Amino acid sequence: MTVHFIGAGPGAADLLTLRGRDLIAACPVCLYAGSLVPEGVLAHCPKDTRIVNTAPLSLDDIMAEIVAAHHDDKDVARLHSGDLSIWSAMGEQLRRLRALRIPYSITPGVPAFSAAAAALGTELTLPGRVQSVVLTRTPGRASAMPQGETLAAFAATGAVLAIHLSIHLLDKVIAELAPHYGADCPAAIVWRASWPDQRVIRATLGTLEAAVSGELERTALILVGQTLDAEDFAESRLYAADYDRRYRPVGVAPRFPETS
Ligand SMILES: C[S@@+](CC[C@H](N)C(=O)[O-])C[C@H]1O[C@@H](n2cnc3c(N)ncnc32)[C@H](O)[C@@H]1O
Repeated sequence: MTVHFIGAGPGAADLLTLRGRDLIAACPVCLYAGSLVPEGVLAHCPKDTRIVNTAPLSLDDIMAEIVAAHHDDKDVARLHSGDLSIWSAMGEQLRRLRALRIPYSITPGVPAFSAAAAALGTELTLPGRVQSVVLTRTPGRASAMPQGETLAAFAATGAVLAIHLSIHLLDKVIAELAPHYGADCPAAIVWRASWPDQRVIRATLGTLEAAVSGELERTALILVGQTLDAEDFAESRLYAADYDRRYRPVGVAPRFPETS
């Protein structure tokens, strides 16, 4: 018996890995983390699967489901939205599984920030402009931020910020970032990236708040950084005609001579 943690992707049911799909189709128990896991993903469950929405459950309740499946020798598909490496609450489940000696596997998923960048049609890291992306959040009722992990501290680096779990604090986010990035820095909100009702708002830090019409519910990402609408950037050296590399040796004395 194994608990298979599976990243269910950002929303579109077909943004699921083949491995994830096949594991879901092979497990007689499926625990999924609430409304962010699309129904289309659950559609891969076999007909008689025990399907449990864990949103209203406590960690103890979730573990009770897993332990029951373990006693019955039934594999469990454990679905969390996006990827499992960020804000999935997988860590605490893994720790309990290790203590109980229950085997598990982890299958990554497409994170929301990737789907948001796709919706914006943007490469977040562009040569000579920005080479780092910070995935972060603001403090929430259930989670304080460690000292030092402030928006201002990240902003001081000039990296692109992908700010999760914070749309309800948009005004505070803007106020904290504007002194570092400037009011004319490109900014965007991508709401429900990859879902059929996806919405994209492009603006600048100075105009973002006014560009939001109506209420944006919580499943949204705030992105801020110079590369969001940049056209002025260098081309990558890797593909330059004169760049000597292993797969395309050039020049009289290539660094990686071809071997026949
Ligand atoms: C608990 S975190 C889950 C993150 C997820 N594990 C991931 O890999 O992206 C939930 C937050 O992620 C962001 N999010 C998740 N899905 C999203 C989507 N489809 N579009 C925009 N933001 C999304 C929102 O900021 C939301 O508040």
